[in-house]
Amino acid sequence: RKTAPLPEDIRARKGGAPLVSLTAYTTPMAQLMDAHCDFVLVGDSVGMVLHGLESTLGVTMEMMILHGRAVRRGLAQAMMVVDMPFGSYEESPEQAFRNAARLMAETGCAAVKLEGGVQMAGTIAFLVKRGIPVMAHVGLTPQSINTLGGYKVQGRGAAGDRLMADAVAVAEAGAFAVVLEKVPAALADRVTAGIAIPTIGIGASAGCDGQILVVDDMLGLFTAFKPKFVKRYATLGDQAEAAVAAYAEEVRSRRFPAAEHVFADARPGEGA
Ligand code: KIV
Ligand code: NA
Repeated sequence: RKTAPLPEDIRARKGGAPLVSLTAYTTPMAQLMDAHCDFVLVGDSVGMVLHGLESTLGVTMEMMILHGRAVRRGLAQAMMVVDMPFGSYEESPEQAFRNAARLMAETGCAAVKLEGGVQMAGTIAFLVKRGIPVMAHVGLTPQSINTLGGYKVQGRGAAGDRLMADAVAVAEAGAFAVVLEKVPAALADRVTAGIAIPTIGIGASAGCDGQILVVDDMLGLFTAFKPKFVKRYATLGDQAEAAVAAYAEEVRSRRFPAAEHVFADARPGEGA
């Protein structure tokens, strides 16, 4: 049985075999991906996929800690990263440290992730110097949806150089890896070649050093919308709804419970 990699092991995978990662929010989902993923992200996407929020802006530290603790119990071999929620790190490096330290202490995560490039480089350096491994996240950063003006592709045309500068800034600040979300494939390849830390693509390029998807998206459990970059590897939501419909029909027609699901009167030697 292998033990979980450390952030520095993930960093060392730059240019090697692709890093595999998914999000998770619960113990059973973490358990079933543990042997297959290098790291698991407790993403603030939890707000949208499990709590019905319309964006990630309403996600709190308490939500990240609760789900982080649940995922922690389900992992033995994969490293765990926890997202810093909106409003928990942007104000100052000190605020970021306080909340990142709390996430690490209360969830047992190996690293935190935060959104932002050049703007957040000072904060990333502050955290790393004080013992907190940081995964960065550039390109489409959903916590900035209201200033980005929608979930559109980032870094097209002249904006590509700014995105490259963001990736370079977080790498130089000491991040051990960086998520590239929803950027042109050629730009993702250029960034991957241009920085010394692994790029983790989502809506980026197969040439990135690793990939991540939201688990409820790839399993077909979250179906409110499907970004182009999501590949559905299963349709569990459809299967779950069909199962619920079958149950409802059998209850209404008194075909459930059947003889094998009910109990006879007590017989000698038989317990509950
Ligand atoms: O919250 C999340 O799920 C993420 C991934 C999409 C990278 O940040
Ligand atoms: Na996130």
